[in-house]
Amino acid sequence: MDPARGDASQAIVGQSRQICEIRRFVQKAAQSRIPVLLLGESGTGKEVVARAIYRSNPLGRFVPIDCGALVGTLMESELFGHVKGAFTGAVAAKTGLIELADGGTAFFDEIGDLKLELQVKLLRLLQEREFRPVGALAYKKIEIRVIAATHRDLEREVALGNFRQDLYYRLKVFTIRLPRLADRPDDIPLLADHFLRAHDPALRLTPAVREALLSYHWPGNVRELQNCIERMVALRSSTLLQAADLPSALHYHLAAQTPTEVPASSPASDHDLPDFCRRPPSSFPLLKETEKHAIMEALERTGGDRARAAQLLGIGRTTLYRKLKEYRIQP
Ligand SMILES: Nc1ncnc2c1ncn2[C@@H]1O[C@H](COP(=O)(O)OP(=O)(O)OP(=O)(O)O)[C@@H](O)[C@H]1O
Ligand SMILES: [Mg+2]
Repeated sequence: MDPARGDASQAIVGQSRQICEIRRFVQKAAQSRIPVLLLGESGTGKEVVARAIYRSNPLGRFVPIDCGALVGTLMESELFGHVKGAFTGAVAAKTGLIELADGGTAFFDEIGDLKLELQVKLLRLLQEREFRPVGALAYKKIEIRVIAATHRDLEREVALGNFRQDLYYRLKVFTIRLPRLADRPDDIPLLADHFLRAHDPALRLTPAVREALLSYHWPGNVRELQNCIERMVALRSSTLLQAADLPSALHYHLAAQTPTEVPASSPASDHDLPDFCRRPPSSFPLLKETEKHAIMEALERTGGDRARAAQLLGIGRTTLYRKLKEYRIQP
């Protein structure tokens, strides 16, 4: 390997079987220019993997394109640029994101949100390697590597008519699925230490905190773990982070466990469990309270996006709407 490039998968922290496999995929993907599709729940590391693929063979630029933000009358021009006078207000020619990525990598983030009008143009780009700026007569040739990512089930989106089947087939040839964090618990301590070290190498977690992190289900995946560590770092009273510093979602989780499920505590770790973990079962939070809390957390984490919040919670959208009403939550 060219040492100047460094190890491409360096930034992908993890030692689980799944992550080792993903590192191998990253190396393979980097050797060819075929499109790559990254699938996985929110916060599983799709962008981390996209950047690692690019860094393995860093030709040209890495241009992230937020497909959800490509809306309205200017979306085509954002993506493909326009010529001077293409429309009222087009006083000068503009280079689109695609052209910025010429010779490099275009990362279509949340490809499942790309409007159908743009999907057909992206397909042409992939097949013919050409595009046409808004108002231009001629097509321009372009050489880009496309990496696309989505948290959506694209097959389902195809069935619903929201995503073009031909584009899906074109993209899915090289698919990498990012596993949920809860399905690779081996990575939890490594990631936690990685995020801690980013702040201060002297910071440590108590054994009880480690066990709490391991037993939680992480609906927001690595992003949630990262936020959790950052919050604990901000609230710490010493370099040893205690269970009392854990965010509320983990508190609820710990409290909802039966006493025998509370992290098997060695004498050294027992005392730093928060009080409520030692409360008698009668004062455990009501299921409804926990549910309401989980819904609020999911909405907070998805910036109020109900569809994604429902997905995080593993319930249908209609169920979420019903519960929002029931608990009088206004996202
Ligand atoms: N394997 C990993 N190693 C190091 N950091 C990671 C890893 N996976 C995720 N992260 C970190 O977790 C956060 C979320 O990752 P990322 O943005 O890549 O997720 P995503 O799958 O794109 O999520 P979303 O669908 O919500 O956009 C980022 O801050 C990222 O740095
Ligand atoms: Mg992302």
